[in-house]
Amino acid sequence: MKMDRNEAVLRELHLYPQWQRRSQSVSVEQAMPAPAAALTEPLPAEPVTAETPAEHTPLRPLDSLDWSELKRQVHDCTACKLRAGCTQTVFGVGDERADWLFVGEGPGADEDALGEPFVGQAGKLLDSMLAAIQLRRGKNVYIANVVKCRPPGNRTPEAEEIATCMPYLRRQIELIQPKVIVALGKTAATALLDRDATLGSLRGAVHRYQDVPLVITYHPAYLLRSPLEKAKAWQDLRLAVATHAAIGGKNG
Ligand code: URA
Repeated sequence: MKMDRNEAVLRELHLYPQWQRRSQSVSVEQAMPAPAAALTEPLPAEPVTAETPAEHTPLRPLDSLDWSELKRQVHDCTACKLRAGCTQTVFGVGDERADWLFVGEGPGADEDALGEPFVGQAGKLLDSMLAAIQLRRGKNVYIANVVKCRPPGNRTPEAEEIATCMPYLRRQIELIQPKVIVALGKTAATALLDRDATLGSLRGAVHRYQDVPLVITYHPAYLLRSPLEKAKAWQDLRLAVATHAAIGGKNG
């Protein structure tokens, strides 16, 4: 891909003409109910409520789970309070061996209703951002969130909720083996880096999640509120593309 982007691409990105812990010491492996015997059964339809009793079946380590087992475990998870307040878990979507992994914060109302990440207004902008670097959802791209259940009122997930849910994202990353991870917003960035920092201080550098290059940019929902920052997001995407090219990632 040529890096000197033309007006058409900037238009596509809407940049033109104006550039302007459940309980703190419980690990998820300990906390997650894993009804291993039910792994091959159809997913149950009944909603989980706050009254649903926690199960204490023996748990399988997440790092032993394949995609279908991991999906089931996320589906069945009641390890933090978010599950009682959401419609369904939102696992992630896309090419399970993608070079590109985009990580958001957590499902919003639209994602909660449809069960897929980034399907609302922020998702439309994310799709435009992908198109601007010649990517599209599902094709060499995987999209996931830090937390798999919608926080009430779209609030930021709490530290304990993030800590409880992160092992799922970690296992997704192990299975995908992406070449580049793009963190969308501060929640994803700090969860993947496991340290707190401002988004502004993290942008513009290639970080690492384990051995995987990690580029940090603004969350699309923030860009919808602050369109002048899209220029910076564009720089970040260019950095991600250059990083992907430098390590010989596959196109398309
Ligand atoms: N915001 C996110 O962080 N993730 C989504 O899936 C949707 C909106």
